[in-house]
Amino acid sequence: MSEIRAASTAGELLKIALPIARTAAETARRMRAEAITDVQTKSTRTDVVTAADKAVERQVIDALRSARPGDGVLGEEYGDTATEPGSSVRWILDPIDGTVNYLYGLPQYAVSLAAEVDGVVQAGVVINAATGDEWTATRGGGAWRDGRRLHCSAPTDLAQSLIGTGFGYDAKRRAHQGAVLARLITQVRDIRRFGAAALDLCAVGEGLLDAYFEKGLNAWDHAAGGLVATEAGATVAGLAGAPPGLDMVVAAPPALFGPLHDLLAELDASGGP
Ligand code: IPD
Repeated sequence: MSEIRAASTAGELLKIALPIARTAAETARRMRAEAITDVQTKSTRTDVVTAADKAVERQVIDALRSARPGDGVLGEEYGDTATEPGSSVRWILDPIDGTVNYLYGLPQYAVSLAAEVDGVVQAGVVINAATGDEWTATRGGGAWRDGRRLHCSAPTDLAQSLIGTGFGYDAKRRAHQGAVLARLITQVRDIRRFGAAALDLCAVGEGLLDAYFEKGLNAWDHAAGGLVATEAGATVAGLAGAPPGLDMVVAAPPALFGPLHDLLAELDASGGP
């Protein structure tokens, strides 16, 4: 695909994604507000999250289907619907990233929507549904928040860097992640765990975190936020030359990527269950 076609496609896809993601974020926020009474009467708090996750994903899928009928959609709740012949676009959606925050009402949960063309993410939007803050990016077109172009931080020393991370849901995986963290924390400025990977990656893009890593992320957790971080100048990859994926996602400014990568490799951060 030529660069010109990729750039115009990316802008067009972002234009489609933005209003859909905004409506989805509004649905997530409203459903939580309305569910407070419901929780006290009939359903459990977990039901609220599941119902909202499903409703938001359904709404986004329906909107995408009517805007671009042939495109595929990979979503956290309803899986992977195939891209039809004639389209090379697959949307990647996390209807509510940060579900535990959503459960507790911590204002750190997001709708994350990315568009992949021929397997490469070209456009992405992440909206914090609790606050309305928005991050967007198109490949080659930069990362943006409220009309402001984003640049990741420029630290050179791992010991002075603030690092974000997250943990999986499985206890055995967590034990390994905890062991890695116990050794890493002595070698960095400090650690943050905010609870929504898409927002963590946007925080790297904005320089609110110097870097971020996590094992076990699915494409819907990192597709849109990863593009925001990349377009803000960060390197986003796995370990040992692998692309970002289930084994590991590391996002860091170029000067920090090497030292952080080597430390994570030494600590076997992509290993374990
Ligand atoms: C989770 C969040 C969390 C990360 C987990 C993810 P979910 O996504 O992004 O920060 O640590 O690995 O699974 O379940 O809230 O969509």
